[in-house]
Amino acid sequence: MISIIVAVANNNVIGKDNKLIWHLPADMKFFKEKTTGHCVITGRKNYESIPEKFRPLPNRTNIVITRQKDYVAPGAIIVDSIEKALLTAKNTGDTEIFIIGGGEIYKQSLHFADRVYLTQINHSFEGDAFFPELLNLEWKLTSKVEGKTDDNNKYPHSFFTYEKIA
Ligand SMILES: NC(=O)c1ccc[n+]([C@@H]2O[C@H](COP(=O)([O-])OP(=O)(O)OC[C@H]3O[C@@H](n4cnc5c(N)ncnc54)[C@H](OP(=O)(O)O)[C@@H]3O)[C@@H](O)[C@H]2O)c1
Repeated sequence: MISIIVAVANNNVIGKDNKLIWHLPADMKFFKEKTTGHCVITGRKNYESIPEKFRPLPNRTNIVITRQKDYVAPGAIIVDSIEKALLTAKNTGDTEIFIIGGGEIYKQSLHFADRVYLTQINHSFEGDAFFPELLNLEWKLTSKVEGKTDDNNKYPHSFFTYEKIA
């Protein structure tokens, strides 16, 4: 199983200036629950956007994709293609491999994915990184759970799961 996990604003924005734009601890909790114990595949830029003290993401096999030959990320596995990242993850025996972004990696890996966990943030933001459109013909919505807003989670949000139509 290859899964993409992403949080997307109304206008498909996922980030700006190599940062997450919104603060939504409920989604971070969801991300942690889903990915813990699994391989996480990330583009080099997204990896560097994670604050240094939180990377490599703990209790997960971190696989970073870069074209830089001499790239160093202590505690992470470095590969130079999405195919190699997926093969490396499969060779660990992981039953669900997570592609965790960012925009470039989502766009190039959507066709490899079986499942997408998509947190929809019901708000528009300006940004420079985007998630590709999921076509109704290719993806079936299998679960929708509405998130709860509170003082710490002020943007309305919902957790969607899509499965690829075989
Ligand atoms: N909302 C969300 O759920 C979410 C999740 C993740 C990320 N984000 C946001 O997304 C943004 C980052 O996304 P991004 O599109 O700018 O960058 P990215 O996808 O994280 O990383 C791009 C980098 O990955 C490497 N790369 C890409 N394709 C490759 C390939 N085919 N082969 C080898 N290496 C490849 C290159 O690294 P080198 O330049 O080193 O060669 C490239 O510069 C940030 O704003 C982040 O906050 C949001």
